[in-house]
Formats: sequence, structure tokens, C-alpha cells
Amino acid sequence: MNKERTTQQLALQGGMKAVSAIEGKGKPKIGADEFMALAERFCLSDTALSKIREAVEQEDWGSGPFLANYYSGLEESRVQKYERTARELFGSSYAVGVNSGTGALHCSFAAAGVKPGKEVICPAIGFYATAAAVVMAGGMPVFCDVDESLTMDPDALEPLINERTVALAPTHPMGVVCNMGRIMAVAEKHGLKVVEDCAQACCGRFDGQLIGTFGDFGCFSISAYKIVGGGEGGLILTKKERDWDRVNGISEGGGLWRPTRFAPERYEGELLVGTNYRMSELEAAVDAVQLTKAEATVARFRNVKQQIISQLGSFKEITPQLRHDTAGDIGYQLRFFPESVDLGKRICEALQAEGVGASTRGGAGRDDWHIYHYMHPLKGDIGCGCYTGNAQATYEKGACPVADDLFERVVNLGMNQWYTQADCDHIATGINKVLNVYCTPAKTPKPW
Ligand SMILES: Cc1ncc(COP(=O)(O)O)c(C=O)c1O
Repeated sequence: MNKERTTQQLALQGGMKAVSAIEGKGKPKIGADEFMALAERFCLSDTALSKIREAVEQEDWGSGPFLANYYSGLEESRVQKYERTARELFGSSYAVGVNSGTGALHCSFAAAGVKPGKEVICPAIGFYATAAAVVMAGGMPVFCDVDESLTMDPDALEPLINERTVALAPTHPMGVVCNMGRIMAVAEKHGLKVVEDCAQACCGRFDGQLIGTFGDFGCFSISAYKIVGGGEGGLILTKKERDWDRVNGISEGGGLWRPTRFAPERYEGELLVGTNYRMSELEAAVDAVQLTKAEATVARFRNVKQQIISQLGSFKEITPQLRHDTAGDIGYQLRFFPESVDLGKRICEALQAEGVGASTRGGAGRDDWHIYHYMHPLKGDIGCGCYTGNAQATYEKGACPVADDLFERVVNLGMNQWYTQADCDHIATGINKVLNVYCTPAKTPKPW
């Protein structure tokens, strides 16, 4: 009678709880099968896989891992570890992991104040994602011509700057670095933000300083195609806490990362309508390791390129790519400009016959979103076709004549970090052999 009364009574009034325990014990949402699916993705042998399965099935998985940055159950989530590793590697005060280089750029432009009616100066050669991210932030990309390094020409910047300009967006293309000293000087003179696109040159240096740490925002892609690459990943470095706040917010639903996630803005300009570029724990686990290997990887590339170019001759008809910092170049491409498109084609053909991998567009290449006039989406309605603020931004060939010319003529030789000294010697011999036949020795040496 007494007991019955107790079960009838509300728990709030001292009665027994209706639910004292849950009996149902399911399997972890993510457990051995998912773990094995990952192991299979590493293409291990059946023998290795069955040994791994046998071992992990004996473990108590509990509720299994929770694969999100927040509530990961770890003292330091893998995303936090990746961000810490990035801060240590770059000596940067703030780092935010995101799921792509494009996401990193979009967040950075939005945080830099890019919005409708504002312009960002992008290099004529780089990759479409930089300009696209400006458009996604509501702004307008304006293209700046390049110099013989194929990077943004600091001398071409000032005529493009007007009252609508918010930021400069130098891209460090294909392993070479921009002249950050001169670009920063222009930015400072005009009070502009700088968003560096380091996707193709992670761990490159200018004047001894790692790229990505010059500007207000350093953006990286850690996608599988990059030197330091996982699957699909991105990174933003900032110098200021407020910039970090804002990129965090934009990458994360508008500001959900904050201690009180749904609170109104804590200072003017903190909250902007956001996206979801959150990084996954699985990607971060891989990319944190990749970052620790970055300097060694780049050192191998640099050494290989140096071994090859130190053996090359100088030729009247060949201009080696200008390098603003020979020691800071990543070294994963060796590039030069033959004096004509036709000569470039013949040199490439001869190099390939020698067993030296080389390519050139040769005047009749395919559409290619690494140069401004082929970035077709920018011309459409969803791009900037509707914006008439700047007549220069037609995105048609001819606006950046140096880029137009060099992009057609350049000869590219991909470097491999694992070349041995003998490989480097053979490749250098092959290049000299071909250039000696097709060109004439230069009277004064030209630095490679
Ligand atoms: C210069 C440059 N910027 C941005 C990106 C975009 O990076 P993601 O593919 O990670 O979005 C790339 C990718 O190729 C790139 O080369």
C-alpha cells in the first residue's frame, strides 16, 4: 500500500522515479565496422585487415567515438590538435580549421569586410576559388597583372585601387611566393586588408618569414592535391583575436562556436550570416599529422629543384621564372619562358622524348580556371555579370596582357621530392641537352 503510494507519487514530491535506468544497450553508432571501412580505405591487404578486425573486435567500444569537434570526449579534439599544430608550425597567434581552401577564403573575405559594392584585387593567374570566394562574400574581384614570377605584380596594384577596394588577395602560385614586402607596403599605404591564398605554396617563405603570416588572413587548402594534403581540408591563420572570432563565426553557422552560442553579438560587427565549413574530426586527424611533416616535405622538394637548376646553363631564348625568394620557393615546379609559343612546344616535345616530364599550353590549350579570362562562372548572372561598379572587371582576355602572354608560353616541369641525386643529374642533363640544341647560349648568365 505504502509502496504503491510511492510509485503513484510524483518524483518531484518524493515518489519513485518512473524511469530509473535504461535497459536497452545498443551497439555504438560508430564502431568496428566503421573503423574497418577506414582501414580498407588505406588499401591494406586482406591479411592485415583481418588481423586488425580481430584485434579491435576484442576492445570494448563503449558508446564509440563522437566524430565532431565539439563534445569529442577527448581532452583535445583532433580539430583543436590540428589548429594547435598549425599555430606552432606557423608561429601564428590564431588558427581555424575548416573543410576547404575555398571555405577558408570565403570566411576571410567576409571577415575582412567584403560585401556588395566592395572590391578585392586578385592576381590574373592563381585559381578561380580566390575570385569566387570574393563573389560569395558579395564583393567584386578585380584582376591585377603578374610579373615574370607569375605572381601579382606590385607595380600594377595602385592603378586598380579606388574607394571601393577593401583588400588585396595575393596568391602564391605553384610553389613560388609573391613579393610580400612590396605588396604589404601597398596595403599599408592604402589601409587595405590582405588575404593571402597559400593553397599552392604551404610552407613557402618570403624573406625568411612563412607565407600566410604576412596578411591579416592566411588561407590554405589541405586537399589531396596539395603538397601538404589530406582529403579535403582548409586552414585560416589570423593575427588578431577579432579576426579569428569572425572567421570562426562565419565558418560555423554565424557564431555557434561561442561560449554562449545563441547570444546576441558581443561587439559591433561580430556576427555575420554564416555557413557551415566545419572541419571533420577524421580529416583533422590526418591533417594534423600532415602538418607535422610539412617542413621536411618542402625541404626535399627544395633540395631536388636546387640540385637540378644548379646544373642548368643560360640560353638567349629562355627566361627562367623570376623567383622573389629563391630560398623560400617550395620547389615543386621548375618553370621557364621560351621566347615563343612554338619554341616552347618543340622544347616540350624534345624533353618528353628524353624522359623529362614537361608541359606547355602551346597557344591552343583548353579552358583553364587558373587564369582570369577562363573563369567563366564570374561572367554569369550568379557571378559579377550584374555588377557594373568597375569597368575594368570584364574578365575578358586582354585586361592583363603580361599574364595572357606568359600563361601561353610557360614550360612547366613537375618536381618530385623523392628524386635521388642521380635522378636530378639525369634530368639536368636532359634539359641542357635539349636547350643546347634549340637555343643559343646566353652571353651573360640568367639566374634560374
Ligand atoms: C590557389 C588556390 N586557392 C584555393 C583553392 C581551393 O582549395 P579547395 O579545393 O580546398 O577548396 C585551390 C585549390 O586548388 C587553389 O589552388
